Amino acid sequence: MPQSIETLAAHFQHPGLTFELGQGGLVKAVVQTEVSTGEVYLHGAHVTAFQLNGQSPLLWLSQKSLFETGKAIRGGVPICFPWFGPLASDPKAPGHGYARTKSWEISSIYPSDDGGLSIDLQTTIDDFALTYSVSFGRTLQLALKVELLSTASGPAKFEEALHTYLTVSDVRKVSIDGLEVTGYIDKVDAAKPKPASGAPIQFNGECDRVYLDTKATCVLHDPGFNRTIAVSKSHSSSTVVWNPWIEKSIKMADFGDEEWTGMVCIETANVAGNSIELQPGKSHTMTAQVACVV
Ligand code: BG6
Repeated sequence: MPQSIETLAAHFQHPGLTFELGQGGLVKAVVQTEVSTGEVYLHGAHVTAFQLNGQSPLLWLSQKSLFETGKAIRGGVPICFPWFGPLASDPKAPGHGYARTKSWEISSIYPSDDGGLSIDLQTTIDDFALTYSVSFGRTLQLALKVELLSTASGPAKFEEALHTYLTVSDVRKVSIDGLEVTGYIDKVDAAKPKPASGAPIQFNGECDRVYLDTKATCVLHDPGFNRTIAVSKSHSSSTVVWNPWIEKSIKMADFGDEEWTGMVCIETANVAGNSIELQPGKSHTMTAQVACVV
């Protein structure tokens, strides 16, 4: 049973914190502080909104998103775990794993060091215990801690991604710095490995690129919104950049046909050859930070 609004309100009280029934009747925590506002659903521990006070939203959320038990929310920050994309050994398994469709529990809420509020959520998946710390402050800070239970019979591997959907004025007019020197797997071209392009990323068609062995901060320049967003990270060796463009958007029922112009995903990840192996009792924490730098 998911935690109810009443249970949460009885346990956690902070100025600027409320618990509400969000879309689809799903429970969410809403944070409104002197620096920013944000919200996170227990469903998937899914952050669906983050906005600095006086500025426009940083995260994108589809108007067509489903808000249903068993379905992923389209937009915000889905958590991909314990695999990324389709599961090679079982094509029927849900894409991106089942962390994003599980009900998580809030375990603690505390002031962040930059004037905001942090929320910790927990769940278990197979032999893994997950703790996700979401901090709504002057930046959006995310930390996914994965621990392999000491009772596990041996080491275990996983993939993970914090699949951040960013709002942009027009994806055809933005550029992303940080990945110029890194080759990538091009999922739009039969997953062929491609060499480093030597140039910032610009968008003129469907883009679905998996960059491996990179710890670089990505900087998104958006002249239409006159803003620059930085996505920085730690303990992450992969970055995925995605925009579905026209045809793929039309095929996705939970994505508006025209919405592709207003979003781009820069995903902090450990996938494929960068997947993580843990020994029983050990943990790994990947972090991502989304900041409006100009
Ligand atoms: C990206 C993948 O991370 O997520 C894409 O690289 C995929 O291939 C996209 O299409 C969206 O995935 P989903 O499962 O949320 O539709």
